[in-house]
Amino acid sequence: MTTYNIALLAGDGTGKEVTDEAVKVLKAVGNKYSITFNFEPSLIGGCAYDEYKTPLPDITLDRAKKSDAVLLGAVGDWKYDSLPPEVRPEKALLGIRKALNLFANLRPATVYPELTELSPLKENVVSGTDIMIIRELTGDVYFGTPKGIEFKNNEKYGYNNMCYFESEIKRIAHVAFKVAQARNKKLCSVDKANVLDVSRLWRETVADISKNYPDVELTNMYVDNAAMQIIRNPKQFDVILTGNIFGDILSDEASMLSGSLGLLPSASLSDGKLAMYEPIHGSAPDLKGKNIVNPIATILSAGMMLKYSFNLDKAHDDIVNAVRKTLKDGYRTQDIAQTGMETVSTQQMGNLICDRLLSN
Ligand code: IPM
Ligand code: MG
Repeated sequence: MTTYNIALLAGDGTGKEVTDEAVKVLKAVGNKYSITFNFEPSLIGGCAYDEYKTPLPDITLDRAKKSDAVLLGAVGDWKYDSLPPEVRPEKALLGIRKALNLFANLRPATVYPELTELSPLKENVVSGTDIMIIRELTGDVYFGTPKGIEFKNNEKYGYNNMCYFESEIKRIAHVAFKVAQARNKKLCSVDKANVLDVSRLWRETVADISKNYPDVELTNMYVDNAAMQIIRNPKQFDVILTGNIFGDILSDEASMLSGSLGLLPSASLSDGKLAMYEPIHGSAPDLKGKNIVNPIATILSAGMMLKYSFNLDKAHDDIVNAVRKTLKDGYRTQDIAQTGMETVSTQQMGNLICDRLLSN
């Protein structure tokens, strides 16, 4: 029997509630396919700060490094807002991405036919949308130096550095072209090359790499235009490749095509074996302990783990189909319920998805 060891980093807020349901679903998949998943919980984020005075303790990082894959809930809570920046929960997320070299962040924005009415956009605009955003995750202005706030010309001066090495652009471009090859073979690279030098290098490098993938159609778009096009006509996109900060912004924007942040999963891959899976939403501390948060994004993230870490494509599809069937049968958590509709709890949603997973 195959065994996989999963580092389980539930984090803060509703992180535990959503990862609990993803664990349930993975166990159900394990039963179906005779795979054992072992889960090793560790602290990350504010809860780790409370225990160890750091949001990313070495013990957590060591366990993550030794695992076959990492499942993360979310980090952050208002009660840590006054902490110094180096120990804020968000630092743990940036820290673990960097430490595990998780440079390729895959964020699919899929509009499920069962939920097109949820989108704030017109149904005919969003229906059938299926975009894969590939966000570079360990470079850019997020990690560039020099950075800081200092005193200059008699006033405070804050600065960060938006920068990429060619090698960083090359490796993410290879990932994006390969993903596009396995989809509809269209790749749109998003930058701000009309203004930024770093984007000129980005564009040149992506064009160079494209020569290795003649079957993929490459287009380029400025980020301001891309933000507009995602709303105007999202169906024109197949795969979007972009840097860290643009990807952060565009992926939140794209999540609204599907109507709820609570639906969107993500995978963060390295060039080695290890990868991390997390919902794109935050920790929603206001919903903590109420058993109402939507676990679907985390369940679908566990699905991405099966596909990208363990090559279990069939089991991945089973999870996606079970989620879709549950939605089709009319079950909704509060964030995706229309007015007057009955809602189910976080745990019920997990159970309903497991039932459908085992019955197909
Ligand atoms: C995300 C988040 C993080 C980011 C924050 C919480 C540091 O917004 O994963 O998109 O900016 O990358
Ligand atoms: Mg974000």
